[in-house]
Amino acid sequence: MYICICKSVTDHQIRKAVFEDRVSSMRELRRCLGACDQCGKCATDAHAILRSSISERTEMEQACMEAAA
Ligand code: FES
Repeated sequence: MYICICKSVTDHQIRKAVFEDRVSSMRELRRCLGACDQCGKCATDAHAILRSSISERTEMEQACMEAAA
């Protein structure tokens, strides 16, 4: 689903940026994908996806660390 219409950025691209490129902030998301740097109408939704993806990433990393211990 498109989140940022101005830059044609999808929710999948945001999740991928969090998991593969280690994006952890809106500033990094803007730099990485260009999302939210024009009209800004996507900022709330982009931020929500960013936060939930970071939480998922953190949970996965903790699970991996516990499994390795
Ligand atoms: S919809 Fe994202 S900057 Fe306009």
